[in-house]
Amino acid sequence: MELNTLIVEGGRKISGTVRVGGAKNSSLPLIAAALLTAGTSTIEDVPRLKDIETMRGVVEALGARVIMEDNVMTVDSSCLNGNEPPYDLVRAMRASFLVMGPLLARMGSAHIFQPGGCAIGARPIDLHLKGFAALGAEIDMSGGVVKAKVDGRLKGDRVYLDFPSVGATENIMMAAATADGRTLIENAAREPEIVDLANFLNKMGARVRGAGTPMLRIDGVEELAPSSHTVIPDRIEAGTFMIIAAGTQGSLYIDNVVGEHVKPLEAKLSEAGAHVETFEGAMRVSADRRLKAVDVTTMPYPGFPTDMQAQLMAVLCTSEGTSQVTENVFENRFMHAPELSRMGANIKISGRTAIIEGVPNLTGAQVNATDLRASAALVTAALTAEGETHIHNISHLDRGYENFEGRLAKCGARMRRE
Ligand code: EPZ
Repeated sequence: MELNTLIVEGGRKISGTVRVGGAKNSSLPLIAAALLTAGTSTIEDVPRLKDIETMRGVVEALGARVIMEDNVMTVDSSCLNGNEPPYDLVRAMRASFLVMGPLLARMGSAHIFQPGGCAIGARPIDLHLKGFAALGAEIDMSGGVVKAKVDGRLKGDRVYLDFPSVGATENIMMAAATADGRTLIENAAREPEIVDLANFLNKMGARVRGAGTPMLRIDGVEELAPSSHTVIPDRIEAGTFMIIAAGTQGSLYIDNVVGEHVKPLEAKLSEAGAHVETFEGAMRVSADRRLKAVDVTTMPYPGFPTDMQAQLMAVLCTSEGTSQVTENVFENRFMHAPELSRMGANIKISGRTAIIEGVPNLTGAQVNATDLRASAALVTAALTAEGETHIHNISHLDRGYENFEGRLAKCGARMRRE
């Protein structure tokens, strides 16, 4: 039986050292990219998470052989024999759709169940499909399945993304890597995970330029060769630890962080009165008093990440003054707010904006986790609260944080699953 409730004893300062793992949101496209070549690629520092297991299931269902030892994954894509990932896996994780680009490039066709909306928004895939169509794929959507096919090679072209979608940029980049001619992705996403994927593709022999800027240029090559790569540190996991240190007025030395990747959060925490020291590949975050209110608006990178919004809101609930949080990336990403209110927070939502009136403290309550980052936010709030918080449906947390409780326990947290 799954232990799906986390009981957190609050009011303890979280202090010590934590190591951040490889980025989930980099690992997922990297595993998909390994399908682009007939051979064995090695990906290091892959976190052991539910979402990674789901992606592993997806590529195995397509014929790849995967071995995971500690945090090293090898993906042997010598013999792909499928082009249709199982419905249950696609439904369990939208990022499964990232195999569409590699399948189209390698097999000339892909059938993938249309991912539905999820707790944080409708999350359409129109921009992915616009890109594939521009590269010459024929797309048919009927019966809830996206069927894409191309005769021969895809053909490079210009793709303008109406919004710098992370997934669409990745999917189109992978499809274009072996297309005939040049692909330009305009208004491309600039997230560090995009750069990581471009680096891996280039090690495989691709010619991707401009990753990290709004204009990606991909000169298609005939074929790619397997390669090895180490995943970048998870900036969202690092950020979650930064917020926990500041919110509990503790002090965490956070190892394996790229300072540049967490700049937007660092700036906000400093503005709120936390101390942030940066070292080569590491940082220390601490606070010796209650934080001050700050305003924040989520934006595509290098703006403030939507994946940190819930956790920051958790500590703004007890900050001094009134904070305003605006969510610009997803249309329904305030599911954590009513749960924080159960703990005594004073939050008013109007459309895409939440106004948070800081209260002196939160108190333990029964709360429900609705998605991955909401779970992390509730753990954060529970750590700062007085008394015991019972977080139900905590299994969402395991999609994105490896041994979260174990690492925090070493830094003074008290929590257990029931
Ligand atoms: C990635 O999702 C991340 N997931 C998300 O992390 C993250 O929240 C998100 O980027 C934004 O940073 C992975 O990398 C696996 P998008 P993705 O396409 O690629 C709209 C987490 O907690 N859109 O950049 O799906 C979309 O609806 C997760 O780890 C379209 O309209 O995000 C959304 O409003 C959750 N049409 C916005 O763009 C499309 O075709 C951003 O989505 C695609 C997206």
